[in-house]
Amino acid sequence: MNKFMRNICLSAAVIGIGAGAVTPASAQSGNNPQLNDNQILNISHRGASGYAPEHTLPSYELGDQMGGDYIELDLQMTKDGELIAMHDETLDRTTNGTGQVKDHTLEEIKSLDAGSWFNAAYPEKAKDEYNGLQVQTLQEVIEHFGKNKNYYIETKSPDVYPGMEEKLLEILKDYNLTRQNGPSSRVIIQSFSEESLQKVHNLNENIPLVQLLDYKGTATITDEELDHYSEYAAGLGMSYKKINQDYVQKVREHDLLIHPYTVNDKEDMKQLLEWGVTGMFTNYPDVLEETMKEMKLN
Ligand code: G3P
Ligand code: CA
Repeated sequence: MNKFMRNICLSAAVIGIGAGAVTPASAQSGNNPQLNDNQILNISHRGASGYAPEHTLPSYELGDQMGGDYIELDLQMTKDGELIAMHDETLDRTTNGTGQVKDHTLEEIKSLDAGSWFNAAYPEKAKDEYNGLQVQTLQEVIEHFGKNKNYYIETKSPDVYPGMEEKLLEILKDYNLTRQNGPSSRVIIQSFSEESLQKVHNLNENIPLVQLLDYKGTATITDEELDHYSEYAAGLGMSYKKINQDYVQKVREHDLLIHPYTVNDKEDMKQLLEWGVTGMFTNYPDVLEETMKEMKLN
């Protein structure tokens, strides 16, 4: 039995119905590339960022070693138009610099220390080798890990960084990362901005997209919304704290993947897997790997 069928049976067992009652994925209504839904994705959120400074090479390396299927990368754009891996729009939290990324050149940002903050914030996890780590460009990450790794890349709103999508696709093309698409795609592009995803879709309709949703309260979703997302996206991502089993089932019945974030606790992971999610973002990919093993899902 493959993972997806196991997942269906697991979900069905939990909600007390026959496995056939959960619609297996087939074709979506939209003209967009599909991802494998028989694999539950372990997505290393900013790398294994529970153990190492987020968005640094050691964090990504650990994510890879700990069973992460995809390296998650947040993109920011420098004053001189380079794409760097950083979550915040400002340098303050994760480097020894200050101010907006967009107001600094790559050279300025490369001179910063992107690791010492972690040692100060988490002395129990501190390592000497984290001191002085550099911020990485997207190219540097791809150069380091190669085109046989998987990248789950987040873009911002086009209003924040005009030209980010074009620059991203240029880089992916340079590394031949837009050629493999569909179920075995090496790259997934995610965004809270539908505008950004639609822009990517118009530039290259072969890249699987994940629409991130920011719910203030408990998540609800209509058939119309699901049909709309299916037009351009392969899946949805949202805070795991906002969803329930009915929500997960509804998304899956529309053949959209569902990748909640950011799930660090084993009991939460188990519950989400029982509900039938098709992957999740975690700062602790080793914990997810272990949980999936215990549930015989990998
Ligand atoms: O991309 C999924 C998740 O990372 C979204 O939240 O703020 O961690 O980028 P954030
Ligand atoms: Ca992100």
